Amino acid sequence: MATGHEKVETNIGLMIILIILVVSVGGLVQIVPLFFMKSMTEPVEGLKPYPALQLAGRDIYVREGCYLCHSQMIRPFRAETERYGHYSVAGEFVYDRPFQWGSKRTGPDLHRVGGRYSDEWHYVHLMNPRDVVPESVMPGYPSFADNEIDGNLVQHKMQVLKDWYGHPYTDEEIANAPNAVKGKTEMDAMIAYLQNLGTALKKMR
Ligand code: HEC
Repeated sequence: MATGHEKVETNIGLMIILIILVVSVGGLVQIVPLFFMKSMTEPVEGLKPYPALQLAGRDIYVREGCYLCHSQMIRPFRAETERYGHYSVAGEFVYDRPFQWGSKRTGPDLHRVGGRYSDEWHYVHLMNPRDVVPESVMPGYPSFADNEIDGNLVQHKMQVLKDWYGHPYTDEEIANAPNAVKGKTEMDAMIAYLQNLGTALKKMR
């Protein structure tokens, strides 16, 4: 007579079914609670949806593929927190669609770069990184200074984020969007975006 254990080990069909069962239950137990944990789904205190100018900057960041060289995810290790500041938490990314965590660090992590440098520094650095960091391999983006932001497009994006994803923009913020970016260049937008990165948690502490 085969024992129960032997039956499982010699019947591959039964084994497959039992493995699928164990993996599914194990997976669900780990994943499902995350949907209900406040710290995973709610914005950290003080986090606001991106104002018009920063939203435009964020989209340029995505368009240019800055994430291919920069992560926005500080891991909870001492070597990281001493260099970059407080580790990243889930509630900081609820208005990031899609998030820009990245996994490649040709350059430094940018999640807490907000406030680290002056606007002027960013301007010079984005025009030509080697003017401030001689050994830099980052490309320059001088065209940012020439291209103006399309206010109607930004307004439309804010409306979509509100209607589809529930980002809490007020009607006034959306109505004022074209005004808020009027005459601003991609350079202004990118700097505004960078200067805000990771600051919600800093303000809280
Ligand atoms: C080819 C890889 C590469 C790309 C693409 C790239 N960077 Fe960089 N970046 C670097 C490197 C390397 C450094 C470090 C040297 C320096 O400061 O220039 C850096 C530094 C920076 C810094 C200073 C960070 C700090 O803490 O000192 C900022 C801000 C920055 N990059 C923003 C951007 C933005 C915005 C974009 C997209 C428009 C971008 N980078 C695209 C490689 C890259």
